[in-house]
Amino acid sequence: MRKNIVAGNWKMNLNRQEAVALVDQVLTQLPAENITEILFVPSFVHLHKIAKMCTDITNVFTASQDCSSHESGAFTSEVSANMIASCNAKYVVLGHSERRSNFKESNQVLKIKVEQAFANNLAVIFCCGETLDQRESGAHFDWIKLQLTESIFHLSAADFSDIVVAYEPIWAIGTGITASSEQAQEIHAFIRDLIAQRYGNYVAKNTSILYGGSCKPINAQELFSQQDIDGGLIGGASLNATDFVAITQLF
Ligand code: 13P
Repeated sequence: MRKNIVAGNWKMNLNRQEAVALVDQVLTQLPAENITEILFVPSFVHLHKIAKMCTDITNVFTASQDCSSHESGAFTSEVSANMIASCNAKYVVLGHSERRSNFKESNQVLKIKVEQAFANNLAVIFCCGETLDQRESGAHFDWIKLQLTESIFHLSAADFSDIVVAYEPIWAIGTGITASSEQAQEIHAFIRDLIAQRYGNYVAKNTSILYGGSCKPINAQELFSQQDIDGGLIGGASLNATDFVAITQLF
């Protein structure tokens, strides 16, 4: 079901003590009547601990930042979807632009990762987004369509209900430049339309689509007020409890 979600992608930040302190602060500041689904997206090594801290807290869960495309075996340092599920994570984030650019993850590899996640009952936050060059040349619509088509549009409609899409324009990530609410809404509507073409209106209407890229308390409300923006994938601002909690309450 479509819902409002705010996920804090910590990336490669916070040691164990810092991670625990941040989650403590967020949980303390969170209003009792919170209805937004809130996700902590820590490093693998903190996943089990953070998931434990969130047990029995309504609407608060964890996600991992990636998973292996392999099921198990001789893949030193890789972390399988099964391992992640056994730490009680609810989601795995796949296709983040930093994985795509730094680790050369292709749409084809991501398709396999999506299948690994689903085989282990993990829901998927699937990231897509364009570079500045692609946007300036007008290639961004086709690019995003290709990312979705090659990695997630092979899924059945039933499986697709466990997909959350995150639109993260690369030029807005960590740059302080946010997509305007009109730019973000335009792409979110485009993504929802692609989902409708592939799976029909019911599935499209029930898919949560998040925006990511320099999302902060000061701009989140306007972004979240757009018809097709259902929440955010937050990087930098998720490392500050007050900012993160503020963003979660801006719907
Ligand atoms: P920033 O919010 O730091 O721009 O990061 C966005 C992001 O990449 C979340 O996954």
